Amino acid sequence: MTLIARDLSHIWHPCSQMKDYEKFPPIKIKRAYGSYLELTDGKKVIDAISSWWCKSLGHGYPELKAALLRQVEHYEHVISANTCQEILIELSEKLALLCPGLNKVFYASEGACAIEIAIKMSLHTRKIMGEQGRKQIMALQNSYHGETLLALSISDMELYREPYQDWLLPVIFLQGIPYVTSEIDPLWQDCGSYWPNIEDQLNQYADTLSAIIVEPIVQGAGGMLIYSQDFLKRLRSWTLKHSVHLIADEIMTGLGRTGYALACQHAQIKPDFICLGKGLTSGWLPMSAVLTTSNIYQIFYDDYDKGKSFLHSHTFSGNALAAAIALEVLKILEEKQIYQKVREKQKLLSQLMFEVAQSTQRLMRIRGIGAIISADLVLESHQKKQRCGYQVFQNAVKLGALLRPLGNTIYWLPPLNIELKTLLSLKEITIQAINQTFKN
Ligand SMILES: Cc1ncc(COP(=O)(O)O)c(C=O)c1O
Repeated sequence: MTLIARDLSHIWHPCSQMKDYEKFPPIKIKRAYGSYLELTDGKKVIDAISSWWCKSLGHGYPELKAALLRQVEHYEHVISANTCQEILIELSEKLALLCPGLNKVFYASEGACAIEIAIKMSLHTRKIMGEQGRKQIMALQNSYHGETLLALSISDMELYREPYQDWLLPVIFLQGIPYVTSEIDPLWQDCGSYWPNIEDQLNQYADTLSAIIVEPIVQGAGGMLIYSQDFLKRLRSWTLKHSVHLIADEIMTGLGRTGYALACQHAQIKPDFICLGKGLTSGWLPMSAVLTTSNIYQIFYDDYDKGKSFLHSHTFSGNALAAAIALEVLKILEEKQIYQKVREKQKLLSQLMFEVAQSTQRLMRIRGIGAIISADLVLESHQKKQRCGYQVFQNAVKLGALLRPLGNTIYWLPPLNIELKTLLSLKEITIQAINQTFKN
C-alpha cells in the first residue's frame, strides 16, 4: 500500500473536501527546516503560510529544540491545577509584560479554546456582578475566531457557519469597517467619516453588550483584511465609556506578525482580554493563553461557597513542554529584535507582491502590514465559480511553494525570519502559479 493510500484510508484531513485528494493528494512531508518543507522525493517546498500561521520562527529553530530538551529532562506535563511550576511562572511573568495591566494568564491549548475562555469570562463576570442585561456579544463583519461552536458563532464566515446555523448562538456583526490597504491610507489615521454609522450600530447595544471581540488590525481568515488603527482606538474608547469588555483575538496577529508584539499597539490600546495562540510556541506545540486584568480576576476571587469560581479546564492547560518553548520564543523575539525586522521587511513584501501583480496582471487590492501581504485574483464572471484560488494552490505546490489561498485571495504569511532569497523564489513561483492558472 502506498503512503498516500494508507493516509487516505484513515486520516480525515482538516478543512478539506476529502474527495479533492483523489486528484491532488496530500504532499508527503519528510522533514522541515527554516522556511522549507522537504518532501519524501527530496523536493523543497516553501512554507509560505507558516503552516497555518503558526511557524513564526520557521521550522526546527535550534534554540527552541534546546529549550524543549531542557524541559524534557525535568518533566513533560503535570496537571496545572493545584501545582506550582517554575516554568509556568517564568512564562506568565513574561506574558504579563506584553500589555501592562493585563497580568493574569489562563492557559489552554488551541486558539479556539482561548476564545471560548475569554467569552465565558466576560459573560460570567456579568452574572457575578448582577448585570443580567448584558448578555450579548458583538464581533466584526468578516471576523474569524475558530471552529468550536461558540467561536464559530462569533465568526462571520458563511462557508464555515452554514451547516451549523441552527446551533450557533446569536451574535451581532458590526458592519461598515474602515478597511485600508496599508498604513499610508488616510483612513488608517482618521476614520471619522465611517464612525457615525459605526457608532449608531454600537449605541443600539450599549446597555446589552457584554463584550466586543476583534481581530486587531488584521482579519485573517476573512481575507487578510486590514483596517484603520483609528477605528480600533475609537472602538476602545466607546467600550470604556459604556462598560463593555473588549476582547482582542491576537491569535494570528500576536507576537510579531504585524511588526509589534501585539497588533493592539498600532492603536495604543489596552483591551480587557487578549487571546494568544499559534506563534506563542512558534508552532512547536499547541498552547494558547488568555491575558486579562486584575479587575476581571478579582470579580471571581472569593470564598468557594460564594460560587464565583471560574471552573473551566483543559487537560493540557499549562503544558510544561509548550511553556518552555513559549518562554524561549519570547526571549528570541526580543533578543533578535524580530519585531523591528518585521517592520523593515514589510516594504519588501509589498514590493514583491506588486511585482507579481505587474507581471501577471491578475491581482487587485494589494494590502499588507508587517509580515502579511495579500491580494485578490482578478476574475472574469465565468471564472468566479472555478476555484481559481485552489488551482493556484495546486500549481504553486508543484512549483515549490505551499500557498494556500483563502478562496480567491492570494497571500503570503511566511515565517517572520524568512530569508530574502526564499522570498524572491516565492515571488517567481507565485507568478508562474498564477500564469499557469490563467494560461488559456
Ligand atoms: C484570529 C484567529 N482566532 C482564532 C483562531 C482559532 O485558532 P485554532 O485553530 O488554534 O483553534 C484562528 C485560527 O486560524 C485565528 O486566525
